[in-house]
Amino acid sequence: KDLIPIKDVYEDYFLVGNAVSATDLEGNRRELLTMHHNLATAENAMKPAYSYNDEREFDFTEEDELVEKVLEEGLKMHGHVLVWHQQSAEWLYTDENGEPLSREEALENLRTHVKTVVDHFGTSVVSWDVVNEAIIDNPPNPMDWKASLRQSGWYQAIGPDYIEQAFLAAKEVLDEKGWDIKLYYNDYNDDNQPKAEAIYQMVKEINENYAAENDGELLIDGIGMQGHYNLNTNPENVRRSLEKFISLGVEVGVTELDITAGSEGVLTEEEAVAQGYLYAQLFQLYKEHAEHISRVTFWGLNDATSWRADQSPLLFDRDMQAKPAYYAVIDPE
Ligand code: XIL
Repeated sequence: KDLIPIKDVYEDYFLVGNAVSATDLEGNRRELLTMHHNLATAENAMKPAYSYNDEREFDFTEEDELVEKVLEEGLKMHGHVLVWHQQSAEWLYTDENGEPLSREEALENLRTHVKTVVDHFGTSVVSWDVVNEAIIDNPPNPMDWKASLRQSGWYQAIGPDYIEQAFLAAKEVLDEKGWDIKLYYNDYNDDNQPKAEAIYQMVKEINENYAAENDGELLIDGIGMQGHYNLNTNPENVRRSLEKFISLGVEVGVTELDITAGSEGVLTEEEAVAQGYLYAQLFQLYKEHAEHISRVTFWGLNDATSWRADQSPLLFDRDMQAKPAYYAVIDPE
């Protein structure tokens, strides 16, 4: 209870976020969430699979409840996610035999999905992950970003421009309504240099094409570095990627930060300290570039409920007690 709120420590630098589910808005989880954070991402609720009922009609009942509670607590909300190959409604791009729909049909579905969801949540979110995880790991020829794209359902039905089309559809809504909501491209293994290069090339080309027709305006406002790291992650690689993305003139969000360590839910003291040290190195880096970093979001409140619970990746342990990682984050120097 006498802990310093992380959001206060970084008040002058960037927003501090966390991933939330309905249970994080009750009891002591709610306390931990609101004490340390001023931004929230729905861990699962706003993914495409959950935007529809069984009749394939839009249904935002649960999402709306979550968003309302988050905003009532005074946190801002980041939208996650409009276009992804996982937790998606596959009928948007494949037929009943699992074959890709025609480009025309899939494009229509993509545009309808993106526009309806962006319009529905409106200004209750400050930003959206428009496209998530479109680039493969370790692309052999990263300068050719189109050759570095994951062969996802959306890709197979529409082709490489599905990414640009998704951003254009979101942008249409924002322009029509006059809303200032930041549009992000989000991906993991962001410290992998070939992957970062392919992301860089993709965002550069899409933004240059759009700027040429729109008075220099950006289409993709930000790049999300998910930040799912481990004890072997080299912070110098994180630095290279971060500085590369910043050089595009976009903002960077650290969107899903966690650092795995140990196994079977057990951390040795040595591992706990090493984990804290890497968190500290990352936060030094984030502070250094804070002018270009909009938020740092952790992917979960405590180790027990993390999506990688076996490897205790967060700042608070199973009993919600602060770990060395917490103390490293509030005082990284
Ligand atoms: C994860 C959630 O944390 C899990 O609860 C769910 O089962 C799978 O998805 N990249 C993303 C997130 O963009 O949406 C993923 O979240 C983690 C990887």
